[in-house]
Amino acid sequence: MEGFSEKTREYFPSLNRVNSSNQQIIYLDGPGGTQVPIQVIEAISKYYLRSNANTHGEFITSKETDSIMDDLRFKVSLMLGAENPNSISIGQNMTTLNYSLARALSRKFKEGDEVIVTELDHEANRGPWMILKEVGVKIIEVNLKQNGTLDYSDFKSKINDKTVMVCMGMSSNALGTLNSFNRVKEYLKDRKCLFLLDAVHYAPHFSIDVKVLDCDFMLCSAYKFYGPHISFLYSKPGVLNDLNPDRLVVQDQEAPYIIETGTLNHAACSGVSAAIDFISSLGQGRTYREKLESAYLQISDHEFNLAKHLYESLEGFDKTTVIGPDFSTRERTPTVSFVHSNYSPQEVCASLAKHNICAWDGHFYALKAIQQLGLESRGGVTRLGISLYNTKKEIDRAIEVIKSI
Ligand SMILES: Cc1ncc(COP(=O)(O)O)c(C=O)c1O
Repeated sequence: MEGFSEKTREYFPSLNRVNSSNQQIIYLDGPGGTQVPIQVIEAISKYYLRSNANTHGEFITSKETDSIMDDLRFKVSLMLGAENPNSISIGQNMTTLNYSLARALSRKFKEGDEVIVTELDHEANRGPWMILKEVGVKIIEVNLKQNGTLDYSDFKSKINDKTVMVCMGMSSNALGTLNSFNRVKEYLKDRKCLFLLDAVHYAPHFSIDVKVLDCDFMLCSAYKFYGPHISFLYSKPGVLNDLNPDRLVVQDQEAPYIIETGTLNHAACSGVSAAIDFISSLGQGRTYREKLESAYLQISDHEFNLAKHLYESLEGFDKTTVIGPDFSTRERTPTVSFVHSNYSPQEVCASLAKHNICAWDGHFYALKAIQQLGLESRGGVTRLGISLYNTKKEIDRAIEVIKSI
């Protein structure tokens, strides 16, 4: 599997950066945002060199911009397994899109309705739903267990006839937990209840098929999967047109545009198409979707093996304790968070940074989870996130530094 990262690394110019001691940079900060391949950089440059314009004009650059936007919706719909490109709305970031969606749903739900969120989720999939309280909707929180997984019996017990929506992450950006979203979908069987999945931490590692998941909404952010800072909202056909989002009277009043406000970042959009092309180019198959699925299998195998090695090394070291599920099953993303018995997460990250290793400390906006685990006062955790370009050599260097501090 080392061959896999060697094959992909050549496309990422930023991996070649060295510090003043000539130590090559190591990016273990993927859950906060991945590096981008040269194809993405070139697509963005090409847009500004040739096609920069606003949409819906009669002239060449505007027509090219229109087709860039259409192509992007098409590629994202293939990536997510969506019914059609009109299921894909584009936004500045996931948080903003989720707020817009919550505001729209606040005009649909009524007093006494219940919306379920989880203690494990990123605040971007908790905070927006709190605004529903303004119209008398009750927000119900599913408990997080001390082992970093959701309490599914608690989950099941909280679903009832008043539940109008369930909002959950597919995986945790703080602990690497892979949630049992299929189990939750089973709990919702035969109920009239919207189901929203936050795929921001999931989409860089695993392929997605929204039709199989049978969700009403899904959100993801391209800057976590080798693209620029743009995000997407998938809506099941018909669902978005039933809502009343904040929007201008002059804009398109139909899905997917109805929830998109103002001018989008067209250059970045062309970069996202290049990022999805890049992922698909790593796989084999007859169709674009088959190539994407094959690429994701290789990515997740490569990343899982490295993360398992990292997990075992940290667990074997008497001064570090991994927070979150173990690697005995595949119910895991390659994101390994830990605490050190003598140093704060910030101090550990500062030591890693001295060796040109990029890692994050803190709660990563999954504040409630870090609070429930009693880690807020210690500064949260140190998080090492593995991406497709990481190598075993890099993981071994990080482990060596952690053991030496
Ligand atoms: C799981 C998860 N959900 C949501 C978000 C918010 O995404 P954005 O930065 O696009 O608003 C993040 C960002 O880190 C995340 O990791």
